[in-house]
Amino acid sequence: MSKVTIIGAGQTGATTAHWLAERELADLVLVDIVEGMPQGKALDLMEAMPVIGSDVKVTGSNGYEETADSDIVVLTAGLPRKPGMSRDDLLAANTKIVRTAVENALKYSPEAIFIILTNPLDVMSYLAMKVGNLPRERIIGQAGILDSARMRAFVAMELGVSVQNVHCYVLGGHGDNMVPLTRHSNVAGVPLVDMLPPDRLEAIVERTRKGGGEIVGLLKTGSAFYAPAAALAQMVEAILLDRHLVVPASAYLEGEYGQEGIFFGVPVQLGRGGLEKVIEYKLNDEEQAALQKSADHVRQTIKKLDI
Ligand code: APR
Repeated sequence: MSKVTIIGAGQTGATTAHWLAERELADLVLVDIVEGMPQGKALDLMEAMPVIGSDVKVTGSNGYEETADSDIVVLTAGLPRKPGMSRDDLLAANTKIVRTAVENALKYSPEAIFIILTNPLDVMSYLAMKVGNLPRERIIGQAGILDSARMRAFVAMELGVSVQNVHCYVLGGHGDNMVPLTRHSNVAGVPLVDMLPPDRLEAIVERTRKGGGEIVGLLKTGSAFYAPAAALAQMVEAILLDRHLVVPASAYLEGEYGQEGIFFGVPVQLGRGGLEKVIEYKLNDEEQAALQKSADHVRQTIKKLDI
């Protein structure tokens, strides 16, 4: 059985464990600094497995010994947003948490592939790569599946079609400058621009950009976790099952899309080795300019990093 460690057993970490345990893909280890909490959630999940019919082992811990030899480490530890906060406001607090978590996890699982969720996502992925001295194949950030799923959900609601028919692609940094690619999005092969009037499409694009903030505003005590966790589970599955699945995710770019030296949301192919390939769309000038603006923002935030 493969082994997946989830660091941060809060809302997103625990929900990721839930989605993954149901799929019977790997034994799971939940790590958190809160005493008893990861152990309690792990035991609760173990007690759900007879009902679900899954034979995975779930362990909770406040340390890293139990994480030894993990195939994948998912990092969700960190502070979530409160109403009025931007993802960048989390930078200082989450820098310390990510640094410690990556150093500790690597001591016990030197070959693991890392999937990062902690915000500000593109910058925390960059930090984790530098701290862990990881090759880009072994570190990917989750943002694009979530942002694209939000757009897909809004389109499906608007048109009354199955979510399975809706394909949307949101690229760029995980923030207000993200770039929903309407020209490349479609419903059962029909371009989105032919399915929706421009004002409705623009409204969906705007709602997608602010999708995380909409949930923060409603919850008031934290940020979204069901959809982020579902996205993490999809990435874990794609890697463990060597699916060669193409999904939007944050990857370290080495010239693709005209960008170098930053983590940035692009379509990537995921398989057993982690990041197998960055897929490049042919973009028009307007799309390229929107991506450039988003990349500039990620670069500015990296400059604020204390490493
Ligand atoms: N090591 C392990 N766990 C930690 C550490 C640490 N050093 N510091 C904090 N944690 C744990 C907290 O105890 C908490 O249980 O991380 C968990 C985070 O869970 P939540 O507060 O429920 O936050 P969540 O909604 O899951 O979001 C986590 O993902 O979307 C991003 O911006 C969000 O950065 C945030 C992260």
